[in-house]
Amino acid sequence: PVPVLVDTDGGLDDALALVFLTRSPAVDVVAIGSVHGNVPAEAAARNTLRVLELLETEVPVAQGATAPLTREVHYRHPEDPVGRLLGPPAAKPVGEPAAAQLLRHVRARPGELALLMLGPLTNLALALQREPRLPGLAGRVVVMGGVFTGDGSVSAVAETNIWSDPEAADQVLTAGFDLTLVGLDVTRQVQPTTGWLTALAQDPLPWGGFAKLLAAAPTDQRPPMPLHDPLAAAVLARPDLVSCRTTPVRVELAEGAARGRTRADSSGRGGQPAVQVAEDVHVEQALDVLIEGLVPGLR
Ligand code: BDR
Ligand code: CA
Repeated sequence: PVPVLVDTDGGLDDALALVFLTRSPAVDVVAIGSVHGNVPAEAAARNTLRVLELLETEVPVAQGATAPLTREVHYRHPEDPVGRLLGPPAAKPVGEPAAAQLLRHVRARPGELALLMLGPLTNLALALQREPRLPGLAGRVVVMGGVFTGDGSVSAVAETNIWSDPEAADQVLTAGFDLTLVGLDVTRQVQPTTGWLTALAQDPLPWGGFAKLLAAAPTDQRPPMPLHDPLAAAVLARPDLVSCRTTPVRVELAEGAARGRTRADSSGRGGQPAVQVAEDVHVEQALDVLIEGLVPGLR
């Protein structure tokens, strides 16, 4: 199995990604960091610990950045559905901050440790600032974030994880990691079907409640919930689920409506290293891989 460190902002789709990863024979989750995003970093650590408790899995969870690199934190979701559904954990986060934990684990296995980033990229940017050789030391990096075609989610042009800390995202995307960006272009295509949700609800653990939340009738305020973070997790285990184009990517940092937009810059003028941008996804295969991983014994 591929050793992986996961960084998460404690959302519903983050929790499902963790369940999938923990149950996947293709990956070995060695450590987890939390970050501000869907919920505060403290709550993200609690939610993660609670998911791990329910799975009877022990993985160290470190609390991470409580705010973006250069701004006050801005929460878009006042709710904490995972915390509400699962309740508080008995376990506590480890004493080390998430960026320090990441650095220590990457250095312990040069070239081997994959990183799966499911929230704003603040922790990875902090680790990079401390260790500029990090891109050469880390294994594969998969980031849920960005949008290149179609509308943004948090704004007309930006996706939430990137928009929540654009400076961190730009530093990470231009650093030279072997990085795959799994953005809204592909995650929006992976919408759970009724059959998929029914299968999820069969699990004896409380993810049945997740299935209900995911299935909740879409409203103007709440569009149907695509499987953003679970798809990124599935891509880590099964890179063939997506096809990618190779291009440098920059993030718009200027104040204004475009802040947080991801832009492919293939001109070569910027001289930035390229990343892989997922452009297309095998939707049915991805849904199958996910549900079979989430609910063991389904087949
Ligand atoms: C991303 O933003 C968060 O709300 C989700 O957990 C996911 O990581 C989707 O844009
Ligand atoms: Ca997330």
